[in-house]
Amino acid sequence: MEEFLPNTNLTTFHKVLSMESINPKIKKLEYATTVTILTAEKLEKDMREGKKLLFNKITKATLGDCHAMGQKPITFVRQLLAACSCPTLIGINIFPSDVNKRAQEILSKINNSIGCYSVPAGVPLVKQHIAEFIQKRDGYYCNPAHLFVTNGASAAIKLILEFFSQENEKVGIMVPVPQYLLYAATVIEFGMKQVFYYLNEESYWTLEVSELRNSLLEARKTCSVKCLCVINPGNPTGQVLSYNKIKEILEFAIEEGLFIIADEVYQENIYDGNTFHSFKKVLMDMGPVAEGFQLASLHSCSKGFFGECGLRAGYVEFVGVSDGVLAEITKMQFTHLGANLSGQIVLDCLVHPPQKGDPSFEVFLKEKTDILSSLNKRANLVYSALNMIDGITCSKIQGALYAFPKITIPQKAIDEAKLLGLTPDSFYCLKLIEETGICAYEGSIFYQKEDTFHFR
Ligand SMILES: Cc1ncc(COP(=O)(O)O)c(C=O)c1O
Repeated sequence: MEEFLPNTNLTTFHKVLSMESINPKIKKLEYATTVTILTAEKLEKDMREGKKLLFNKITKATLGDCHAMGQKPITFVRQLLAACSCPTLIGINIFPSDVNKRAQEILSKINNSIGCYSVPAGVPLVKQHIAEFIQKRDGYYCNPAHLFVTNGASAAIKLILEFFSQENEKVGIMVPVPQYLLYAATVIEFGMKQVFYYLNEESYWTLEVSELRNSLLEARKTCSVKCLCVINPGNPTGQVLSYNKIKEILEFAIEEGLFIIADEVYQENIYDGNTFHSFKKVLMDMGPVAEGFQLASLHSCSKGFFGECGLRAGYVEFVGVSDGVLAEITKMQFTHLGANLSGQIVLDCLVHPPQKGDPSFEVFLKEKTDILSSLNKRANLVYSALNMIDGITCSKIQGALYAFPKITIPQKAIDEAKLLGLTPDSFYCLKLIEETGICAYEGSIFYQKEDTFHFR
């Protein structure tokens, strides 16, 4: 019988964990510690040391982190969180009465402390409120047993994708290009194959079903394609899918037997007369032809007008998935001991906000309206300003939190980038931060059509 003996060496300590030995799938993933981020860190250090730069502030526009860009938290959320974290504050009546009442109700469902572990799938009261929120949004029943609360939508994406991974079969997952980095990273981590489909930049980065079909046909020569991931509104591309487009995508997925992951974390970030339609609603509207179809829909507290990405809260709703699979998902949640309770309190505010007549309602509404209209104004400002610059074209930002402009890079700069071992767009972002202090991500980390260059 073969024995697996450790490689010991008596003269030096054998490094069990080394760059040679670590999981090769992890080494294969590209994540976003790019030259721009490293330069930002260096420039910040230079600033602290009093060195003179061309600017006096680094603008970190790399992540969709609203609070880091100056957005203020919603008062109701932080008051409720404070009351739940420190229940003695409830007794001294410093918060509005609806905050105190809500805090008492939540505490009574979580053993009176946010320091406890949660029920693995999420606090039942929070799940009930999520179900009511979805029902109100879509006009269709949502079963709380099909909901799982997670530490951000990121954890939900990993939770779902892990279920597609197989030992003896190469599984393909369809992901958009450009895409949100976590999809590529997770698909690689679980040993699956990324099946790219390209969004159409010439048409506001929309998703064309003909492109999905071509990409699927090609991929089926090398792997078994199980799942189609759609980000709507899009990151990094800012497009919002129309009702009919979603219906076409669903018809395609039904015909081809694909599971859909609908990443809908930007559903509140919709600008200028565009409308958000959830995949679940469109699916349910399709009636009997769609019966039994399976999808997962994601939402998060990190985006919208909350921007509470540090508190890590999101959820996933499964549609058409059997009780057996739901039990397996619960088992996985159990192994992670559930989502954090502070995040679940924030999530509860998102899906169950103060109502008209409640003492906190007016302030809540004002803060929500101000943030969303400011985001809308800034989306338009960024769009027009970028299009005024020579060599830059930017699609209208219909939703989400980003612009993804195309940049024309002269051959001389492309050659210079090559000498530095950088992609042309990394070189562009490097120059951007060195000369202006603006820290943006190069398009190549989101993937992009060959020979096109962008930044987010
Ligand atoms: C499309 C998309 N999905 C998911 C996430 C992750 O969200 P969370 O902070 O809830 O993990 C992000 C974060 O930027 C995102 O852009």
